[in-house]
Amino acid sequence: MSGAGPAAGADLVADLVETVRDRLAREPGDLTPHRVAAALRGTGRPVGDATVLAVHEVLRRDVVGAGPLEPLLRTPGVTDVLVNGAGQTFLDRGHGLEPAGVAFGSEAAVRRLAQRLASTAGRRLDDATPHVDVRLPDGTRFHAVLAPVARPGTVLSLRVPRARSFTLEELVAAGSVGEAAARVLRELVAARAAFLVSGGTGTGKTTLLAALLSTVAPAERLVLVEDASELRPDHPHVVGLEARPPNIEGAGEITLRTLVRQALRMRPDRLVVGEVRGAEVVDLLAALNTGHEGGCGTLHANSAADVPARVEALALAAGLPREAAHSQLASALDAVLHLARRADGVRYLREVAVPVRDAAGLVSAVPALIFDGDGAVRTGPGVEHLEERLAR
Ligand SMILES: Nc1ncnc2c1ncn2[C@@H]1O[C@H](COP(=O)(O)OP(=O)(O)O)[C@@H](O)[C@H]1O
Ligand SMILES: [Mg+2]
Repeated sequence: MSGAGPAAGADLVADLVETVRDRLAREPGDLTPHRVAAALRGTGRPVGDATVLAVHEVLRRDVVGAGPLEPLLRTPGVTDVLVNGAGQTFLDRGHGLEPAGVAFGSEAAVRRLAQRLASTAGRRLDDATPHVDVRLPDGTRFHAVLAPVARPGTVLSLRVPRARSFTLEELVAAGSVGEAAARVLRELVAARAAFLVSGGTGTGKTTLLAALLSTVAPAERLVLVEDASELRPDHPHVVGLEARPPNIEGAGEITLRTLVRQALRMRPDRLVVGEVRGAEVVDLLAALNTGHEGGCGTLHANSAADVPARVEALALAAGLPREAAHSQLASALDAVLHLARRADGVRYLREVAVPVRDAAGLVSAVPALIFDGDGAVRTGPGVEHLEERLAR
């Protein structure tokens, strides 16, 4: 074999890829090994078949799927892939973040991938709208912020969908939820309690919510409201509404708030807000206070104790005064299920808390059950409230 054989260095291939890309871009046509070979010949550098195929493969991955990230996304057990500009890629396969050892040739390559992935979901990503948060056709949740808004370069965050949701039993088997905790969670759902699953990013909030929704009686109708559709409960009667950002002219936005209101007219037995993060909290609280039992959602919070303050802040930003927010919260919410990650990366249910109102009318989330992540359970001062709610 002449020139670069199978041992062609990655640098050489990366080099050739850029050249071939330029040449191919000048004359439209399908991406075939034949055209790649012709373009390579045109460079005047003789290369072997293995190199032609290597260059073709890189270009092909570039136009389909997630480019150089594709193998990472397809690795069993990988849940998250993060790209920080051209030089850093991390993955999470259950033990926290680890370097993924994939490098992009240049910032331009990361940007190109980000734009292409956004466009497969029908979104534009450019300097006018330099961020996007969408679900890709295969279900992957994709977030990107272009440089220079993001540093050290264009930053991508991909969350791999599981082929199917975890069941509650699987969460128990994985050590994320104890046996006793699972019983309490089932009872909460069966009692049509309203609850929020709280925790930091990637602690498994959406996953636990989906597992709990899968335990809802089959005769009930679930109406899901989400920013980017993610929840896949294993349940026979699910309808979903997905929010939409404004288009380039600033028109056509559909907010979660609008969707919560629409959902209420759709005869939901359970109203579910996938991720509460804005003004929709007001409509959710109002709904839970007007006979819509069993509503639930997730909320980003660093501890269960932070949940009332988070709700208050979101409600306040939407114009609901503090006092009203607390009084609504006290009567609307039955439980907070808080998730955390252990030092070794394992996600677990850390606490079940109940909202309790003090003399001044302010709600605090009082621990009812506290789990240490190794199966041990302690009860907290809120446990009687929890039992009362379950007995209702
Ligand atoms: N208990 C668990 N054990 C193992 N993996 C989990 C567990 N809970 C969630 N995951 C995985 O972790 C990732 C993040 O979970 P997700 O529920 O989306 O988190 P959050 O909603 O808190 O951001 C997902 O890919 C999910 O499949
Ligand atoms: Mg989530």
